Amino acid sequence: MKGFYVMTAALVMILVSLIISTARNMSDVADSSSDGVKETEERLVALTFDDGPDPEKTTALLDMLKEKGVSATFFMIGAYVEENAEIVKRMDAEGHQIGVHTYSHVDLGCLTEAEQREEIEKTRQAIWSVVGERELVVRPPFGRINKVLEDWIDSPMILWDVDTLDWTGKAAEEIIMETVESVHDGDIILMHDISENGLEGAEGIIDELQRMGYTFLTIDQLFYCKGIELENGVTYRYAR
Ligand code: NI
Repeated sequence: MKGFYVMTAALVMILVSLIISTARNMSDVADSSSDGVKETEERLVALTFDDGPDPEKTTALLDMLKEKGVSATFFMIGAYVEENAEIVKRMDAEGHQIGVHTYSHVDLGCLTEAEQREEIEKTRQAIWSVVGERELVVRPPFGRINKVLEDWIDSPMILWDVDTLDWTGKAAEEIIMETVESVHDGDIILMHDISENGLEGAEGIIDELQRMGYTFLTIDQLFYCKGIELENGVTYRYAR
């Protein structure tokens, strides 16, 4: 298991330096055509999608992300992984990060250790059977955890900084505007690949943030770039 992580970390490092050097080259071009003020502020962000995969919506989202050249992180429901193995395979092949969002979208904060373990282990097995065994970060549904979970869980838990509330059915323009207004360097953005206006919202967020000089990274890449080593049993969201 350790070997897997070392290999994955090496791959992530290579990918990240490629992405950043491309972004720097692009911003050099932008600088030379602007008023000469050098933009040195780092702008990194991670898009995350929960509650999938869904045969139609996740596929459309993957098409869009591919077209934009953006990598994201998908926190998936174990039961849906089993039903949509081909989509999960594609996600992995196209450079997205895969994480656990429990097997049946339960509130882990209300469960016993045995129940929590079953929810997480069943999801891991479902994902591993599709893409092979590897370390998987966990996003607890509703961001809910408890002391019992913190004490045993053998994964880092990833929450978010910007909640797009895309699941409420709000309009794409609103999702885009509110996200773009509140996002900061290093932020994790929460979206859902099953939401009604999520695809249009995500597309607009990507366009706007790229225009502002943001680079989209997976969770592993983002934490690596920020020099933060993910630890098991710890909950992460950035303090600004
Ligand atoms: Ni969820």
